[in-house]
Amino acid sequence: MAVAAERHMTVDELIAEGGPIKAKATFRSFDESTVEDFAAMQLHNDDTRNQVLELCLEHLEKLKHPQPASPVTRYEHSLQTATRAWRDGRDGDDDIIAAALLHDIGDFFSPHNHAEFCAAIMKPYVRPEVYWIVKHHEMFQGYHFFHHFGGNRNARDKVRGHPHFEACRQFCDDYDQTAFDPSFDTMPLEAFMPTLQRVFEKPKREVYDKVQDD
Ligand SMILES: [Fe+2]
Ligand SMILES: [Fe+2]
Repeated sequence: MAVAAERHMTVDELIAEGGPIKAKATFRSFDESTVEDFAAMQLHNDDTRNQVLELCLEHLEKLKHPQPASPVTRYEHSLQTATRAWRDGRDGDDDIIAAALLHDIGDFFSPHNHAEFCAAIMKPYVRPEVYWIVKHHEMFQGYHFFHHFGGNRNARDKVRGHPHFEACRQFCDDYDQTAFDPSFDTMPLEAFMPTLQRVFEKPKREVYDKVQDD
């Protein structure tokens, strides 16, 4: 059998053919790596399993942290944002529902840039419009309260005219900024799990591709 690398076989093709696959990769730099090396790692390492949803849910759980002075916890806010989107007829739009649920999961890890935190995680799994919404929601939310801090509530005007401006404005105006009502009939996380599982089942696109994101 010819050496797989000489045939420019891909990792998936080599595994499907059954080998030859090493027990362990032996390269010391990527420059000297072979397809057999990567097949070994893909087949024998257990960390290539997609754990993105599990980790997102762990971060969502952190948003239960008590905030006695706030109308609702950030966890309740997240579920309420998703519920509002769902009841607005977006229940069939998996990307939007996932974005509504997870858009604030970076609040602890990246408190001063939480929108980009979640956007980076979701980028491979959702359409470019939804990635853009998550990435810019912090600024669009500001229209509703930045002035209380002496900030510029019209900061979003910098991107007015962008193809996704209106979608982001609508997401924030109708779902995100309204989702602080303690008496709202919010749906439980379990109701959204099938949606989340579909979204994070596998990446839909390579983030290296040039797409209209920014
Ligand atoms: Fe946010
Ligand atoms: Fe939010």
